[in-house]
Amino acid sequence: MQITSFKQYEEDFKKSVENPEQFWGEVAQNFQWRKPWYKVLSWDFKEPNIKWFEGAKLNITENCLDRHLEKNGDKPAIIWEPNSHEEESVTLTYKMLHERVCRFANVLKRNGAKKGDRICIYMPMVPELAIAVLACARIGAVHSVIFGGFSAKSIADRINDSQCKLVITADGAYRGSKQIPLKDVIDDALIGCPTVEKCIVLTHVRTPVSMLKGRDVWWEDEVKHVNDICEAEEMDAEDMLFILYTSGSTGKPKGVVHTCGGYMVYAGYTFTNVFNYQPGEVYFCTADIGWITGHSYIVYGPLSQGATSVLFEGIPTYPTPSRFWDIIEKHKINTLYTAPTAIRSLMSYGEGPLEGKDLSSIRVLGSVGEPINEEAWHWFDEKIGHGKAPIVDTWWQTETGGIMISPIATVTPTKPSFATLPLPGIQPILVDENGKEILGNDVMGNLCIKFPWPGMLRTTYGDHERCKQTYFSTYPDLYFTGDGCLRDQDGYYRITGRVDDVLNVSGHRIGTAEVENAINMHAGVVESAVVGYPHDVKGQGIYAFVINPEMHGEAELTKKDILQTVTRVIGAIAKPDKILFVSGLPKTRSGKIMRRILRKIAEGDTANLGDTSTLLDPNVVEEIIEAAKALK
Ligand code: WTA
Repeated sequence: MQITSFKQYEEDFKKSVENPEQFWGEVAQNFQWRKPWYKVLSWDFKEPNIKWFEGAKLNITENCLDRHLEKNGDKPAIIWEPNSHEEESVTLTYKMLHERVCRFANVLKRNGAKKGDRICIYMPMVPELAIAVLACARIGAVHSVIFGGFSAKSIADRINDSQCKLVITADGAYRGSKQIPLKDVIDDALIGCPTVEKCIVLTHVRTPVSMLKGRDVWWEDEVKHVNDICEAEEMDAEDMLFILYTSGSTGKPKGVVHTCGGYMVYAGYTFTNVFNYQPGEVYFCTADIGWITGHSYIVYGPLSQGATSVLFEGIPTYPTPSRFWDIIEKHKINTLYTAPTAIRSLMSYGEGPLEGKDLSSIRVLGSVGEPINEEAWHWFDEKIGHGKAPIVDTWWQTETGGIMISPIATVTPTKPSFATLPLPGIQPILVDENGKEILGNDVMGNLCIKFPWPGMLRTTYGDHERCKQTYFSTYPDLYFTGDGCLRDQDGYYRITGRVDDVLNVSGHRIGTAEVENAINMHAGVVESAVVGYPHDVKGQGIYAFVINPEMHGEAELTKKDILQTVTRVIGAIAKPDKILFVSGLPKTRSGKIMRRILRKIAEGDTANLGDTSTLLDPNVVEEIIEAAKALK
């Protein structure tokens, strides 16, 4: 199923459009099924109701583990690089990983977990995180991994939304020179989570933690009570595999649901093709498993293909900004898949950190999460790839399950900051505000997908209507991505960014409404409005306009108080970069905040504010502009 020439790409693409069921049916033959499907696809984008590989039975962990044992059991599945460069890295072969997953799967069963139960995972980037994820899949439990940067309240909201029965965590996590008390955060969260019966705690940093009798158990003790034989649960192709929460333009984060069969096929197919993975190569994705990139391209995609996947606990700048380059040299990494924000951050240190580093093993480079600017693209290409490694700028989303628009390494001619062409099976279209298709090249519009693909979301947990409203109602019969996009004269796609109220801060998706709600929870705040503005490293920064008439002490201190509230309510990742106190917000006569104006002010582009005549009180704009000038 690996594409090796552009001609083949064109043929496969054509076939995938003309005869999608045959195309995906053939791709799916490369995976291991307990029972075949009777129908490849049935779909309806109105409901939406999407089923892939109907009737088929499988367990994704048999594809990620068992099927490699005979020939590749001693091949490294995971290489773990710890936060501290002084600590030894750990290699788990497929045999070892299989054994540990089975053992931990038995621990889950021993603690009452069974098929269909939801399990929350809040862990550092250690091998046990991948083991926990796979162990859930082994027994047919649905994992909901929560990124380590979220607060107790965010965790509680997510646990309650999907009624998790079990939580898997660790005492703490290392992040560069910092230590993060994960179990403490979980303890705070669990106060408000009546459905959680058990919490399994891994010892990692060995910081003191509270352990509640009857609820909390140690990972290390539990594994002693079970053996390592665990038959995989037989799953229906459309049974739920996992839930992953993601932000939208309104309301609370949604639990995006992915199912077993289609997701597996799509993650595996896209991994092997986009990165042109060759047997024996070492592949390093720097994402966190708490996000979709880690799910699909650290765990499921690479392991389903028998690849060697590097899992890194730390950050690119610890102990020095050479860390990535040291890891590449040490493990002879062939593929580096990272985010533009990391590239821009490392770029800012100049060439010093690269001196004397042997990056000759690099064959393919990848970028994901946000638009990559041309400067960062060229730096990546020249300094890291030495002009010889194709860069795959991969566009996709939590909802799409896998990469959608991207070059295929060694096959598709690349172009700086272009995600280039859709993968086989993906039918993108651009539409105008009225949903009319924009045909031809050299055009811009809203990016939609008009035909299903196996990795797409099936629903949003507990609220199918929300899935329908968010993705399938803006434009009838289309999946709407929320992204703006241009198609150039060569038919190449370039993603221009979100067209809704979702920010992309360092590749993290954050809804402006969520941040506003958090700020509004701060005592004294009357109202707030949040917009994004261009930020050199983060891509976008968060700019908050806040009405807070009765400040508690100095303004600077009050700002810090507000940051603390946001950290409590959402997590440190959502902290505004700038807070501006204002006495009013620009509103229309019907009371709608005119964000367009605030965005311009945040960008410092006050010469072109456009029409402000419909404002209730145009004077407020002048005041905000003046105040913004004074803000550092
Ligand atoms: C943005 C991450 C430009 C986009 C896999 C999308 C990108 C959102 C790219 C999804 C890219 C992701 N170029 N923009 N290569 N990749 N995005 O759900 O706005 O965390 O809608 O999934 O990130 O973010 P999510």
